[in-house]
Amino acid sequence: MEAQQKGRGDAVVLAHYYTEGAVQAMADYVGDSYYLAKVAAQADKGTIVFCGVRFMGESAKILNPARRVLLPDELADCPMAHMADIARIRALRAQVPDLAVVCYINSTAQLKAECDVCVTSSNAVRIVSSLPNQNILFIPDENLGRFVQAQVPGKRFYFSGGYCPVHAQLLAEDVEREKLARPNAPVLAHPECRADLLALADFVGSTSEIIAYAEKSGAAEFILCTEPGVLWELSRRCPGKHFVPVTPVCADMKRITPEKVEACLAGGGYEVQLDAALMDAARRPLERMLELAR
Ligand code: 13P
Ligand code: SF4
Repeated sequence: MEAQQKGRGDAVVLAHYYTEGAVQAMADYVGDSYYLAKVAAQADKGTIVFCGVRFMGESAKILNPARRVLLPDELADCPMAHMADIARIRALRAQVPDLAVVCYINSTAQLKAECDVCVTSSNAVRIVSSLPNQNILFIPDENLGRFVQAQVPGKRFYFSGGYCPVHAQLLAEDVEREKLARPNAPVLAHPECRADLLALADFVGSTSEIIAYAEKSGAAEFILCTEPGVLWELSRRCPGKHFVPVTPVCADMKRITPEKVEACLAGGGYEVQLDAALMDAARRPLERMLELAR
């Protein structure tokens, strides 16, 4: 999560923990979605090369529209970012009084533009708790939404049925099997996992929270229920500890390769371009997230 300034003139390279290790090694800043959104908002270089999926590059552009934002691969997209329906959001707003529409940052700019506040996995509980509204429509990730709901009593939640195809693929029985083989290994899980799996976890948190937990823990071995890209940072920060990943890889994150990052730095890549009015509408919930999570 630290800055490793590589001295690249007028470009800065940001990478999510789910990209491959060789990509993270090239980056100036590596982190989770919240950290990278903050770095992007403050970036003062002319070009941001965002090694991640499309919603991350879009969020960077929306928060810092004067910068040129490049994605190394135009097709790297998060399927969950599309799993909510604008017509249903508008219909629910008309029907339910005192409704806050809370949007996981893993969402398209069009969905963000319909929402009141964005959240990431590391700040969702804090932000939803701080909202005065009694009713919450949480889009698109229902697993993260139900995890938040369990920790924010007294509010009524509505969901859009979205899910991360990578984390939701992992079943509680897969983890139970691994626990039998390694009874002393704490289970570390991302809140995009299913609720019955989260019930088996010793720690639930965002990628950066999982890494920080593992670093402080006295345990020598861990069962890892998040995308295995985090192993690169875990191996740097937790020498001598052993991690058993049980989650499949995110094929979209793995579209980013060192060669494609080099191509961006050499003047190629895909430039994120969004309509100005759309960016203005989507900026409100993103900036509110940065304010409430501070
Ligand atoms: P965090 O970066 O908040 O841990 O979320 C993981 C993720 O799904 C990014 O796509
Ligand atoms: Fe989307 Fe899941 Fe991949 Fe994250 S891990 S980018 S939520 S598909």
